[in-house]
Amino acid sequence: MLNINSFKKMKKNEEKIVMVTAYDYPSGKLVEKANMDMILVGDSVGMVVLGYENTLQVTLDDIIHHAKAVRRGAPATFIVADMPYMSYHLNLEETKKNAARLITEGRVNAVKLEGGSDSRIEAIKAILDCEIPVVAHLGLTPQSINKFGGYKVQGKTQTKYNKILAEAIKVAEAGAFMLVLEGVPEGLAKEISETIKIPTIGIGAGRYTDGQVLVYHDLLGCSDYIAKFGKAYADLNTIIPQALNQFNQEVKSGEFPSQEHIYFPVEEK
Ligand code: KIV
Repeated sequence: MLNINSFKKMKKNEEKIVMVTAYDYPSGKLVEKANMDMILVGDSVGMVVLGYENTLQVTLDDIIHHAKAVRRGAPATFIVADMPYMSYHLNLEETKKNAARLITEGRVNAVKLEGGSDSRIEAIKAILDCEIPVVAHLGLTPQSINKFGGYKVQGKTQTKYNKILAEAIKVAEAGAFMLVLEGVPEGLAKEISETIKIPTIGIGAGRYTDGQVLVYHDLLGCSDYIAKFGKAYADLNTIIPQALNQFNQEVKSGEFPSQEHIYFPVEEK
């Protein structure tokens, strides 16, 4: 299994890091089979698996439940779990306890949290103090959509650009071992990636981050909507209904089950 030192080395050697989300046993198993460098049990589970409107309703118990299943499917892959909304906002004791539950119950290797404010910096340090590696997440952080007024690309004005750059430096100095940059202009992601020593993983952040992450259902073409920055490498939204329709028709017509699917008695000896 890769570890935080492997990712550091990959950045140094300019070897791209590939991360993909997974949410259950089968997705964990397939992602591990595809040799991905790391898995994220993202709070995107709320939208792509649980049918919520956004990520804000996802609970710590939800993430633990899904992380456990992913770990069963991917026993040899480095897994990061998202700390859901309000699991690291109240106080440092709660934050540490919640991060530790993801490790001990969810059996992941690291946790991710959104934002770069002073209180987030304290949270990163407190979690690290529990020997838990932390991934930071800046830019279009989905847990802030109400504050942003929607899913809007961040860092487009000079003031916001400077703020995100400064936050990236702060999260790296606080000890985060990796930074996810979401929905920011390519130039900003490039400058951050060249400035900080820790690897950056981009989603909607252009070509120059140290790695890329995509949501499992987006890359397989089975989500409701795919953003400009996403890419579907398969079309499961077509393939799955085709298979289901065929099953439906074959049962109704009597074509399935056929001879090859039937058990027959054997003679007793
Ligand atoms: O929850 C998630 O899937 C994420 C990625 C989009 C980075 O945070």
